[in-house]
Amino acid sequence: MRTATCAAPTNIAVVKYWGKADAALNTPLNSSVSVTLDAALLAATTTVASNPGFSATRLWLNGEECPVPNRALSVLSALRAIAPDQSLARQHVHIVSENSFPTAAGLASSAAGYACLVKALAELWGIKEQFPGQLSVVARMGSGSASRSLQGGFVRWNKGEREDGSDSLAEQIASEAHWPELCAVVCVVSDQAKDTSSTSGMQTTAATSELLRYRTRHVVPERVERMEAAYLARDFATFAKLTMQDSNQFHATCLDTYPPIMYLSDVSRAIIRLVHRFNGDGVRAAYTFDAGPNAVLFLERQHLQELLSLLLHCFPSSTGVHVKTTLPVDAVAKAPRGWEDVAIVRDCVKMFYVSGVGGGATVLPPEQSLMDEATGQPLRVSHRSSSLQPWMVGASAVAVVSAAAFAVWKR
Ligand code: DP6
Repeated sequence: MRTATCAAPTNIAVVKYWGKADAALNTPLNSSVSVTLDAALLAATTTVASNPGFSATRLWLNGEECPVPNRALSVLSALRAIAPDQSLARQHVHIVSENSFPTAAGLASSAAGYACLVKALAELWGIKEQFPGQLSVVARMGSGSASRSLQGGFVRWNKGEREDGSDSLAEQIASEAHWPELCAVVCVVSDQAKDTSSTSGMQTTAATSELLRYRTRHVVPERVERMEAAYLARDFATFAKLTMQDSNQFHATCLDTYPPIMYLSDVSRAIIRLVHRFNGDGVRAAYTFDAGPNAVLFLERQHLQELLSLLLHCFPSSTGVHVKTTLPVDAVAKAPRGWEDVAIVRDCVKMFYVSGVGGGATVLPPEQSLMDEATGQPLRVSHRSSSLQPWMVGASAVAVVSAAAFAVWKR
């Protein structure tokens, strides 16, 4: 049996993709840009195996076997077409994939999942890109945002002009080393699968929202340029303001959809108010929300401890520690002077992840394989429990994980 194992990070769009130009090719109505987060915190890990003896292509997500979604089949056939060794690429594959974070709750889990699948299959079949961004074109077929998760740092996914979608690809604008002070706090407001998937939500928005039409034509092209310039100049105030405005406009297009789509919750809105109050007359932090109620807050390291302490003060947990970080920061709750009146909302933010800007998808050594080479199936059940979050205990936790596992890879 041949195997390859890869990890891919999640990414957070600061100018959002919402709406498809061509649903079959999965090309977008507008270009988008994102920041890659640290794969040590928020990543998908995937092992792919091929063996002449496999009788079918099979997939296990977070330990459970699932039907192989059509989008994964499209990814497989696009990669098969460019594989150098056709007899190897014709063999069936077994795919074992795990997520280190709650799936399908607006945390770009499909981005990490499909980027990881593409990276792992390319490694398994010895595929080298014939032009920069070729693998991102394939990842895009799995999930649009996955095109941006192959690379680290600051990444732009170009809308593209060609009819066949071959130039709708991602390119790195700045590496993960470019802005070391930039960091993100992911506030997990919900670990439940979202109500309206991004795929169906954006189709309804594209069909019904005048505001989306205006946004894609008149707002996004210039905003992408300004965002890139701000990122390259490490101009936090401009980067942050554009990030908040773009998130707000994206959610406005969701409300302008008929019937409306509402991804933000009361807790999301409380976080928005908190950030504006924290900013006062300046701009020290920015929020952004994808297709779910979870907030991602961008800020520079100098303000991280103060903001995290404030968040822990306002959103305490009865079940203890709920911070995971790759940056040195203390999980102490504290409100600065003048914040004595702030509302405390208990047990509504389930987890905080604190991350720097991360690198792209990577090949992992064979010791990190998720595959039992004797059976061609997931290595061991106990391995799965490591991906369970601390708040997931008892029977309901298992239900959350398995329902979400099903939702992460789009059909
Ligand atoms: C709000 O990439 O999940 O996160 O291409 O249909 O799989 P599909 O959509 P998906 O949409 C992500 C939408 C978003 C914004 C973004 O990441 O740009």
